[in-house]
Amino acid sequence: MRVEILSLLEDAGFVSGEYIAEHLGVSRVAVWKQIKSLQNIGYEIESVKNKGYRLVSRPDIPIAEEVTLGLNTKVIGKDIYYFKSLSSTNMLAKKLIKDGVEEGAIVVSDIQLNGRGRKKRNWFSPEGGLWFSVVLYPHIPLERGMLLTMASSVAIVQGIKETTGLHPVIKWPNDLLINEKKVCGILTELDAEMDRINYAVIGIGINVNNQLSEDLHGKATSLIHETGSKFSRVKLFRTILKCIDENYNKLKTGDYDSIMDSWFSHANIIGRNIRVHDEKTVLNGVVSSVDKSGCLILDTKDGSVRVVSGDVEYL
Ligand code: BTN
Repeated sequence: MRVEILSLLEDAGFVSGEYIAEHLGVSRVAVWKQIKSLQNIGYEIESVKNKGYRLVSRPDIPIAEEVTLGLNTKVIGKDIYYFKSLSSTNMLAKKLIKDGVEEGAIVVSDIQLNGRGRKKRNWFSPEGGLWFSVVLYPHIPLERGMLLTMASSVAIVQGIKETTGLHPVIKWPNDLLINEKKVCGILTELDAEMDRINYAVIGIGINVNNQLSEDLHGKATSLIHETGSKFSRVKLFRTILKCIDENYNKLKTGDYDSIMDSWFSHANIIGRNIRVHDEKTVLNGVVSSVDKSGCLILDTKDGSVRVVSGDVEYL
């Protein structure tokens, strides 16, 4: 009912409680209760005797009422689970999957108390950023699993570009950089058998209007830091969800080449001299390609090596 009330108030000046009640087939008291709950969430709604209600401003909070406005996606964002504070959106997404949540469901939180990055690192998630997870049930071969992160990276680049004019560069395997500093990280968690992926949770953290922790200075950046302007998280979020939907539908229809092409056009990695390391090994070399499974092919002094995961340093 709240979505319907908002759409009646949108661009309409004052609308009487009686009109809203009649339109929705409910009592005026029921309308008043919903108006109160909207005001509690952060909507500024003026109420004047004999005139009715007027929507003055909307909150920049990624709640379903805001995000789904004009979001004509096929799969992504049909259900949005919003929280003011949560341990980790990925953790809750995995719980929801156990309860049978629909594909495309989103978990989003204003802050995370225990946000996780790759390799069990902490992910600093204060107010002002965009911290969310996307639930997917992709019927793609397991060997193509990395394309889920690649398709998501492409979508986030497109969304950030469309909303802010900034153009992040994708850093293999899961980072987005602006001016060589990390603005977004992706944590993809898969549950799979030999031949099929049961589910994927794509956890996305974007530094939007938030502050960065001391230890991230020089390594990370935010959209506000890069431009000096505050951005609407709702607008950015909606645009990114739309882009994820488009790219995910390409994946689902087996259009892997177009995802790879878009990824290459934003990744700028071929021919780069890099050092890639994990817990055990360090490799230096020049990237000659990225194969169809998303693995790096590195020309090292000992020959060509296929790299499945690791942290990359540009040399
Ligand atoms: C990385 O760069 O290491 C990945 C960072 C991923 C962070 C996001 S924020 C939303 C989601 N929930 C989490 O706990 N982590 C991911």
